[in-house]
Amino acid sequence: MIQRWHKKKTQLPLIAILFFLFILCSIFYNERRFQQIHHKENRKPNDIATRNHLKKTFSSLNRTGSKASAGILDRFSTCNSTVKYDGRSNLNAPWLQSDEQENTKDSCNVFSGRWVFDNISVPLYNESDCPYMSDQLACHKHGRPDLMYQNWRWQPHGCDLKRWNATEMWDKLRGKRLMFVGDSLNRGQWISMLCLLESVIPANKKSITPNAPLTIFRAEEYNATVEFQWAPLIVESNSDDPVNHRLDERIIRPDSVLRHASEWDHVDILVFNSYLWWRQGPVKLLWSNEKNGVCEEAESLDAMELAMSEWANWIESNVDPSKKKVFFVTMSPTHLWSREWEPGTEGNCYNEKTPIEDEGYWGSGSDLPTMRMVGNIVNKLRSKVSVINITQMSEYRKDGHPSIYRKFWESRSPEQLANPSSYSDCIHWCLPGVPDVWNQLLFHLL
Ligand SMILES: *[C@@H]1O[C@H](CO)[C@@H](O)[C@H](O)[C@H]1NC(C)=O
Ligand SMILES: *[C@@H]1O[C@H](CO)[C@@H](O)[C@H](O)[C@H]1NC(C)=O
Ligand SMILES: *[C@@H]1O[C@H](CO)[C@@H](O)[C@H](O)[C@H]1NC(C)=O
Ligand SMILES: *[C@@H]1O[C@H](CO)[C@@H](O)[C@H](O)[C@H]1NC(C)=O
Ligand SMILES: *[C@@H]1O[C@H](CO)[C@@H](O)[C@H](O)[C@H]1NC(C)=O
Ligand SMILES: *[C@@H]1O[C@H](CO)[C@@H](O)[C@H](O)[C@H]1NC(C)=O
Ligand SMILES: *[C@@H]1O[C@H](CO)[C@@H](O)[C@H](O)[C@H]1NC(C)=O
Repeated sequence: MIQRWHKKKTQLPLIAILFFLFILCSIFYNERRFQQIHHKENRKPNDIATRNHLKKTFSSLNRTGSKASAGILDRFSTCNSTVKYDGRSNLNAPWLQSDEQENTKDSCNVFSGRWVFDNISVPLYNESDCPYMSDQLACHKHGRPDLMYQNWRWQPHGCDLKRWNATEMWDKLRGKRLMFVGDSLNRGQWISMLCLLESVIPANKKSITPNAPLTIFRAEEYNATVEFQWAPLIVESNSDDPVNHRLDERIIRPDSVLRHASEWDHVDILVFNSYLWWRQGPVKLLWSNEKNGVCEEAESLDAMELAMSEWANWIESNVDPSKKKVFFVTMSPTHLWSREWEPGTEGNCYNEKTPIEDEGYWGSGSDLPTMRMVGNIVNKLRSKVSVINITQMSEYRKDGHPSIYRKFWESRSPEQLANPSSYSDCIHWCLPGVPDVWNQLLFHLL
């Protein structure tokens, strides 16, 4: 099965890309919404949010028609001209060599296992009880009739996962900052974490700041925060505004994580992801020392490798593993083509009610060259970064996506309504659901 997808698709077919744009666009609306909701709740505006807000207001005065230069990349940035990527690398060589051979393992691989139906111990929380639930992920609220998707427990082969215990997790977080950094999938995991954790904190002892590049949940009694930073391409890019993204022309600064990393310095536990934003065709590179606004155009895998390398450089020189824990969450699978798990069918994840049972099933949405590239990089950082390898386990969960059961902000045509799979979201995950298990793995590994 794995071989089958190996050579073919390095790019998603056009239709998938269009669909993907559609989903990303709808996130845009969702985020606005999220902002409104949490504005009301905001009891304690904090320094960082205020600072970001000021920064935003300030730069909005001055960005009309700004050309990309060594200055700030934002959604108005454009390339002056574009040439082909010349293949230069930005890995700092010294640590690249130090591929220390560690002999870990006889411990159990918690990422290899199966989903077991269990309506006693899962879900770990109620969708409607969680005040931080997103309308993009609240599938039951938006009419999903079958609720079995909430009742699957992850059972590793050969051992058990640590039982989720919110109080114990808060004890681990006491006096600390936990930050999720990444795209909307990572945000889903952050919301899942809030829902898993919030019930044991009294209402007057918790707060959340409005949507900004950094959103912060605070639990007073524990002096702890659980934060989300929007950084879909990890490095600095013209898509770094969490509300107004650029999708048509993605420009990254492959040699700078600075815009985001200034927040990472004082965080105790960092959870990164990045994948789907790279999967929409070529990406433009604008190096920091480029004075004339000339971009290079790179294939998505090369561009992602550059971004991951720059991230790795930061980790290598800034992470002391006795003080800071870093996790990387592998790619989240999509279920856009039902023919991949049920040959002869034409649909997608819409109307799927049970997980795939075929052990080792691997769909075309999970790109193996990307996995190998990520594997190579994190392997070199083994002493500083742990992988949360969610890909295989999530591949089985064709039933776990919102499909049509989420809020859509744009109206749908009669043709779409007649064919629900045409507007199904088979990328994100319903909550309670699959991301709860990703967090359980994080809990297990902490
Ligand atoms: C506006 O941009 C110009 C040049 O790009 C810069 O010199 C100036 O300081 C900026 N002003 C503000 C208010 O950001
Ligand atoms: C759990 O599932 C079993 C088998 O499908 C069913 O008989 C039972 O009523 C369910 N219990 C709850 C609490 O939903
Ligand atoms: C969810 O809510 C229902 C009804 O409000 C309640 O019976 C159930 O115990 C709740 N489940 C959890 C996990 O809190
Ligand atoms: C959860 O953890 C707390 C603190 O470690 C402990 O006191 C409690 O008994 C645990 N609860 C369960 C259900 O295991
Ligand atoms: C709260 O946690 C921060 C680190 O996140 C620490 O600097 C600060 O001293 C803590 N405050 C108290 C009162 O423990
Ligand atoms: C764009 O290119 C032209 C011609 O090469 C150059 O004169 C101009 O300064 C460049 N603009 C920027 C913003 O780099
Ligand atoms: C994640 O697990 C899959 C198998 O399930 C494996 O092929 C892949 O190499 C792993 N990725 C990383 C980065 O460890």
